[in-house]
Amino acid sequence: MENQEDNLFKNVISHAKEYGFIFPSSEIYDGLSAVYDYGQNGSELKNNIKEYWWKFMTLLHDNIVGIDAAIFMHPTTWKASGHVDAFNDPMIDNKDSKKRYRADQLIEGVIEKLEEKIEKEIEKASKRFENFDRAMFLSTNARVVEYQKKIDDINARMKDALGRGDMADLKQLIIDLEIADPISGTKNWTEVRQFNLMFSTEMGSVADDANKIYLRPETAQGIFVNFLNVQKTGRMKIPFGIAQIGKAFRNEIVARQFIFRMREFEQMEMQFFVKPGEEMKWYEYWKEKRLQWHQALGLGSENYRYHDHLNLAHYANAACDIQFNFPMGFRELEGIHSRTDFDLKSHEKYSGKKLQYFDSEDNQNYIPYVVETSVGLDRMFLSVLATSYKEEKLEDGSERVVLKIPAALAPNKVAILPLMKKDGLPEKAHEIMDLLKFDFRCFYEEKDAIGKRYRRQDAIGTPYCITIDHQTLTDNTVTIRDRDTMKQERVSIPSVKSIIQDSVSMAGLLKKI
Ligand code: GAP
Repeated sequence: MENQEDNLFKNVISHAKEYGFIFPSSEIYDGLSAVYDYGQNGSELKNNIKEYWWKFMTLLHDNIVGIDAAIFMHPTTWKASGHVDAFNDPMIDNKDSKKRYRADQLIEGVIEKLEEKIEKEIEKASKRFENFDRAMFLSTNARVVEYQKKIDDINARMKDALGRGDMADLKQLIIDLEIADPISGTKNWTEVRQFNLMFSTEMGSVADDANKIYLRPETAQGIFVNFLNVQKTGRMKIPFGIAQIGKAFRNEIVARQFIFRMREFEQMEMQFFVKPGEEMKWYEYWKEKRLQWHQALGLGSENYRYHDHLNLAHYANAACDIQFNFPMGFRELEGIHSRTDFDLKSHEKYSGKKLQYFDSEDNQNYIPYVVETSVGLDRMFLSVLATSYKEEKLEDGSERVVLKIPAALAPNKVAILPLMKKDGLPEKAHEIMDLLKFDFRCFYEEKDAIGKRYRRQDAIGTPYCITIDHQTLTDNTVTIRDRDTMKQERVSIPSVKSIIQDSVSMAGLLKKI
């Protein structure tokens, strides 16, 4: 099963390259590790995901506005945010394979295996007992209780070592758990060292430490430092939100699994500023709203789940992930964090500028609390691409690969295909394209047999193909083919727009939320 899933993931990755969605960065120089370029179809899909998010935030919420802050920020920003001192991952090298790992991920691997064992026990028992009670089974089955105790012990030791910054203790845990390198198979480990994930560079011509600046590791700080600018110029009243889409950079120790963990990626973040004491109400609100936004895409509600954080970051009083069932299993897609007043308070301290809100209803000044929603655009892309990718066997015995991308996100909405390159069919096809191109992204193609052209459109996820044939010239009708059902219908040219409009519009998608 695992191999089947691995193979499917490999097929998705090669499909993404073959059809202009994602290319390895600077491929002619053999690529750059964990950096990718989006091709002609990938950038359209990515832009549509951004539009879906941006419109949800700024059109459906009249108290949320968007900004576009610079990637470079004053270096003190990152001192205040805690990133200079605490944005570290513990890393460890295997002396035989020379491979580098995140120490916490090696330990989490052991926990995952124990969790899998628990799930297997549950699966077996649920088949055996008709009225299976999961909660009861978890608390009474001796094997499950033992696995769970091991998980809790490991978690507690890891949390304690990380919390105290005790890297020797973390290494001891790796030794005690007898973790071997998956490549060399040996337990010949170096010491664990802290590794800061921020990329730095110099600003100006003098390369000394005073000019050192960072490539932002999250977009959120661009929002915090502009909190008062936006609040005052936009006359915003609490509660209100500031949204932003932009690049972030992290020097990930172990960057793999295609575009899941990259060194240059994009985030879509929204900081929601609320009255202190009301943050938990808004945290619950955004947890629910963000899940609805994901589920409205139609990729399958069962593919999402919440994962509450037990180990909270230094700035949070509640946090959870929305996880998605990626090809490699359930992983974080989006984070929802109640960040308290940590960031604004800290920026106040470091900048010496007041970052407070005057609440005219209560006649008082306060530093607002913040609830953040933060989703990785590239991870969204991967969730859409991998779930849409289908290898289908057709009734006539042939096969097709189709991307069943939610229609509103598809790179092209309509393909315009004259059956032949003669008899005035291309001219008529261009006339139809002129009717549609201001409303939908259209793709024109006249080369190759029609069946081959349909397959190519299936492979890039085009929801509709319009075929212009000789009948079109006599009665002004075309055939319209649906990507998912492959059914064709003959319709009049003036009706095409309204048939397509309903299913491919972003507004239609947003109305589902
Ligand atoms: N401002 C909060 C923040 O940055 P995070 O959990 O570190 O929180 C938020 O990141 C989201 O950004 C994640 O849920 C994930 O979707 C995305 N993300 C984080 N690191 C990433 C990476 N190396 N590659 C791709 N996406 C990443």
